[in-house]
Amino acid sequence: MPITAITGSASGIGAAVSAALRAAGHQVIGIDRSNAEVIADLSTAQGRDAAITRVLELSGGVLDGLICCAGVGVTAPTCGLIPAVNYFGVSQLLDGLQGALAKGQQPAALVIGSVAATHSGVDGQAMVEAMIAGDEVQALELANTLGQPHVAYAASKYAISRHARSLAVSWGKRGMRLNVVAPGAVETPLHQASLDDARFGQATRDFVAPLGRSSCPDEIAAVVVFLQSPQASFVHGSVVFVDGGMDAMVRAPHF
Ligand code: NAI
Repeated sequence: MPITAITGSASGIGAAVSAALRAAGHQVIGIDRSNAEVIADLSTAQGRDAAITRVLELSGGVLDGLICCAGVGVTAPTCGLIPAVNYFGVSQLLDGLQGALAKGQQPAALVIGSVAATHSGVDGQAMVEAMIAGDEVQALELANTLGQPHVAYAASKYAISRHARSLAVSWGKRGMRLNVVAPGAVETPLHQASLDDARFGQATRDFVAPLGRSSCPDEIAAVVVFLQSPQASFVHGSVVFVDGGMDAMVRAPHF
């Protein structure tokens, strides 16, 4: 039975992916702030270390899959929390668990990014370079000083997608696949919080995908389960948009 660890397993996309993986025969080690096999706060270095240690204990040091889904959105209590969870809560788990994955069967990892990563101007943000450089203090300070949660969110998703792609060569040579799924609007508590927010509600409602609707978490989970499966054995280093056509609508020439 393949063993897969997944962050953010208690809600939304992570809960849907966990259920779909269990149905596909995986042993799932969920990691979240509550209602999970591993309870940890991925916004802090100590929480990430504790999560890694516990996953290694529960898995016997061997993982076949790792999915980094935990994230916070534009309604996070501080802007600094956004890079803390969405970038460092992912990059440090990938780093801390890659040794266990290297021992797994047809190992594959996946990061949940976002179509927001492609928003114009995001790639020039100083906080992106701080994240890529692994400078958490600087990245959080820049995010808090700028005070624009939608920019911090897009920057965190762009940076983590870039980071994942930068690992493609070294991970691929060790037989480990790593991909990013970039969802558009998905009906989860995170999305609902954006809709309910006075600052972001209208823009969230106005940004409609060509398919004319948002998705349900199961539509994201189906793609994640495929990418983690042996059927996707040659898919590696990809950013797969599952967004109802949003990225194509905004950036048709860029692919
Ligand atoms: P959600 O709010 O339903 O689930 C997020 C999960 O992450 C929760 O269980 C939460 O407890 C966990 N989490 C948050 N901070 C944490 C921390 N410090 N430590 C441990 N766990 C923590 O949200 P949703 O929508 O399922 O989000 C999952 C991922 O999908 C996120 O990375 C989000 O950015 C991404 N995403 C969501 C979209 C949407 O429209 N819902 C669109 C594009 C990307």
